[in-house]
Order: sequence, then structure tokens, then C-alpha cells
Amino acid sequence: METAIVVLGSANADLVVEVARRPLAGETVLGSDTCVLPGGKGANAAVAAARLGGAVAFVGAVGGDANGDLVVRSLVDAGVRVDHVRRVDRPTGAAYITVTPDGENSIVVSPGANAALTADDVWLGSARVLAASLEVPLAVVEHAVVAAERVGARAVVNVSPVARLSAEALAVLDPLVVNEHEADELGDLLALGVRSAVITLGARGAVVVERERATEVPAPRVDVVDTTGAGDAFTGALAVALAGGADLVSAVRRAVAVASVSVTASGAQPSYPTQERMNRSASSRA
Ligand code: RIB
Ligand code: NA
Repeated sequence: METAIVVLGSANADLVVEVARRPLAGETVLGSDTCVLPGGKGANAAVAAARLGGAVAFVGAVGGDANGDLVVRSLVDAGVRVDHVRRVDRPTGAAYITVTPDGENSIVVSPGANAALTADDVWLGSARVLAASLEVPLAVVEHAVVAAERVGARAVVNVSPVARLSAEALAVLDPLVVNEHEADELGDLLALGVRSAVITLGARGAVVVERERATEVPAPRVDVVDTTGAGDAFTGALAVALAGGADLVSAVRRAVAVASVSVTASGAQPSYPTQERMNRSASSRA
């Protein structure tokens, strides 16, 4: 299958612990057993896209350690191409995640191998969509986005963790994807020069901003268990829909539906639905 979607970004081992509440500075709290899961904003989006039937290649870097094996195995199991994943002499990225009973998380990321990704690692093949996120060096994402424009691939960038891309890179984003907090930090999104923007609003869905028009896309009401990686599921699903030729608002509708399913189960990747699962939930609502 020809690669339709290239996902570029981080791959991490997620070390997850459930806590009743987060510790204050200088305080210790006891939590659950540690759960080690494959994660990273990039790898998560790649797995989400592949589960939905996308032909996906992942571009990233991992270490030569067991955590690297864990994240690569998860990509392979989902059907993602991993021949552009480089093994480097750094520990695989790690994310220290606490999850509270309301399903909210807070995360400390240790980039490790992700920081070793370079512009030379960028590969786009004949992809229709490049989906990138920012837990890898900003210059690499900027390079990839500009290269995508050159080969006619649509650049979807989840600007998370928030950072300011070059004007040249911003100008081709279609869309730039951010959550509410990231949007606040960036200010007027269209003034950044992007072609379009999507603001994800958690339980309230998302807003699509194209030229002067803003379209609200509501989310279904669900029982939230764990929101970790919901934004990455959103990005992966958005990439699949856009690569399949959907217009932006319809693609965001599908991405909201996928992200809403992902928050109903624990973890990031383990909670991502297949296309079959999405079809079933759509027909049960009809
Ligand atoms: O967006 C969720 C992801 O952020 C986690 O999987 C963690 O690895 C961090 O990168
Ligand atoms: Na989840």
C-alpha cells in the first residue's frame, strides 16, 4: 500500500500512575502500580491513523533500549511503516504521567532520543498528508512542513507543546491544530498566517477557523476515564479523513468522534478505536 500519511513526531514510553490528587512542591503522594505504555504525541497519532485504516509511515527516533522496542512494536502491530524510525544512542523518550479520578492528566516529558531527530530524517515519499507535532526539534518540523508544501502534501501540525514556528512554516499549515490553552498562548491564529486552524475544546468538541469563518463542531457526551493522548487521536483521525479527500469541517467531525471514544478508556494508544469500532458506534446512534 502506498503511504498516504506521514506522521512525524515523538515516540515515548508512557510511565503512568493513577493518583487521588497531584503532589504539591515538596510533598509525596502514593499512587497506583506503574503502567508502562507506548506513547509520544507522534507515535500516538500514527497508531490512531493506522487503526482507522490509514496507510501510515512514522518518522521519528528511539533509543536502542527496551522502551524503544515497546514503541516500535506498537507501531508495527497497528500496521504503521517503521523503516524511517531511527535508532539513536540516547534513551527512548519517556513521559511521566499522573492521572487523577476526573480523567485529567499532567505530564513531564524527557525527550531523550526524540531530541536527536534531524532534518535528514525527514521522509515524505508520495504522502498526501504530513501530520506533525512538536515534541521533536522545532527546526525539523519546520523543515518537514516546507518540504511537504514542495511535494504537494498537506501539512497538519498539532502545535503541542506550544512553540512558535517560522513564518514560512506557518504559512502552509492547513490546519494548525491547538487546544484552548495553546490557542491562548498563540493569540489570533489566522494572524499567524496559517491557511486554517482547528482549536480543540475537550468535552465541548472543536472549532474550525477558515478565513473569516468559524464552525463549531460539538462532541458527544461520554464518560471520561482518561484524556491522555486524545489530542493525538484527533490529529491522527484528522489526517486520515483529509488524506481520503474530506473537507476540513467533515474531517474535524470525524476526528472529534474518534477523540471522544479515546477518552472513554485508559491510556493513549490502547484506547484508540478501529474504523470498524467507529462504524459500529455510528450505526448504534443512527
Ligand atoms: O499527548 C499524550 C502524549 O504526550 C503521551 O503519550 C506522552 O508520551 C506525551 O508525549
Ligand atoms: Na484514553
